[in-house]
Amino acid sequence: MMFQLTEEHEMIRKMVRDFARNEVAPTAGERDEEERFDREIFDKMAELGLTGIPWPEEYGGIGSDYLAYCIAVEELSRVCASTGVTLSAHTSLAGWPIFKFGNEEQKQKYLRPMAEGSKIGGYGLTEPGSGSDAGGMRTSARLEGDHYVLNGSKIFITNGGIADIYVVFALTDPTSKQKGTTAFIIEADMPGFSVGKKEKKLGIRSSPTTEIIFEDCKVPVANRLGEEGEGFKIAMMTLDGGRNGIAAQAVGIAQGALDAAVDYAKERVQFGKPIAAQQGISFKLADMATGVEAARLLTYQAAWRESVGLPYGKESAMSKLFAGDTAMKVTTEAVQVFGGYGYTKDYPVERMMRDAKITQIYEGTQEIQRLVIGRMLTK
Ligand code: CAA
Repeated sequence: MMFQLTEEHEMIRKMVRDFARNEVAPTAGERDEEERFDREIFDKMAELGLTGIPWPEEYGGIGSDYLAYCIAVEELSRVCASTGVTLSAHTSLAGWPIFKFGNEEQKQKYLRPMAEGSKIGGYGLTEPGSGSDAGGMRTSARLEGDHYVLNGSKIFITNGGIADIYVVFALTDPTSKQKGTTAFIIEADMPGFSVGKKEKKLGIRSSPTTEIIFEDCKVPVANRLGEEGEGFKIAMMTLDGGRNGIAAQAVGIAQGALDAAVDYAKERVQFGKPIAAQQGISFKLADMATGVEAARLLTYQAAWRESVGLPYGKESAMSKLFAGDTAMKVTTEAVQVFGGYGYTKDYPVERMMRDAKITQIYEGTQEIQRLVIGRMLTK
């Protein structure tokens, strides 16, 4: 077993780290405060090839792998979790199902511009009445000649309103739930599609989260992704990989908070010496660092498994579960290390603590990850 990244992975890490430090970090606090998505940052990520890391060059990508993609999400999230999730939803929730289940025409028409970064992707599964119970969706798709007519709404859509292309799920057979679910590729300017309420959130505030609405939305049959009835499996398989992207985001958030806490603890003097030299704080830092490292190893392992074609659903649920909890724990401890200052907006750790919470909720709550892991252990 080799615990060493390849030269390519190291190169991507360095490139993204420099980019994150120079172009993303300086405005992270202000974008959070203003709840403002910055398209320029996304465009710069596109220039660097970050918007299509795992996709082959023939589809506009840079032909790397899922580990490189996770490293990129981690490095971005280390300074700005919102930027991390923008890339994560774009790549693993919207790009992946098109790469895996799309036909050649769909890949050229939709995956290519997304990989090149001229278009942003989103994913629509959750509905007001179906969150953890994804199979309980109500949005319907009725076949009428050469198109489907979609009606319903999806909520909590990451990249909602900024995405040009959405992969969404609707019932083509309302009598049979999961087996009646079909996947579609939606263009944001299709008649009958609109963007609804934008959520005001605790964290990841510069990543827009909105409702998307379908009112007699006409979607050509050519935009069906996979076959009728395959949608639920496509949704679940997409989340298998997506969850590891969230694990990478959580690792990045936790590492960012640890970095800040270590720097502060070395500078802050109380009782005549830096607080880092006091065991109460140094033990805290040691536990934080151990958690981050363990979360990173789980995340990289799941990404590596996906890259080499091994099963990764269970590992991905485990990495998301562990890394999400680690991010929450480490960011909370980072605020504690900073004491009163940590509770203010003068330092980034309060933002990191707010951002960490969502990693325990989206792409399946921690409770759903346990359910997925438990089922896989016993099936
Ligand atoms: N891969 C392939 N097939 C799968 C699968 C997987 N990972 N998981 C389930 N399936 C298949 C099953 O094999 C089954 O097919 P058969 O009947 O042919 O055997 C079918 O799908 C139905 O599966 P289940 O009976 O297990 O379905 P369920 O209703 O019990 O639900 C669940 C399972 C795991 C709880 C699922 O509903 C789930 O994952 N819920 C959480 C939803 C979620 O993660 N939402 C996140 C929204 S996206 C988001 O958050 C994005 C964002 O903002 C960034």
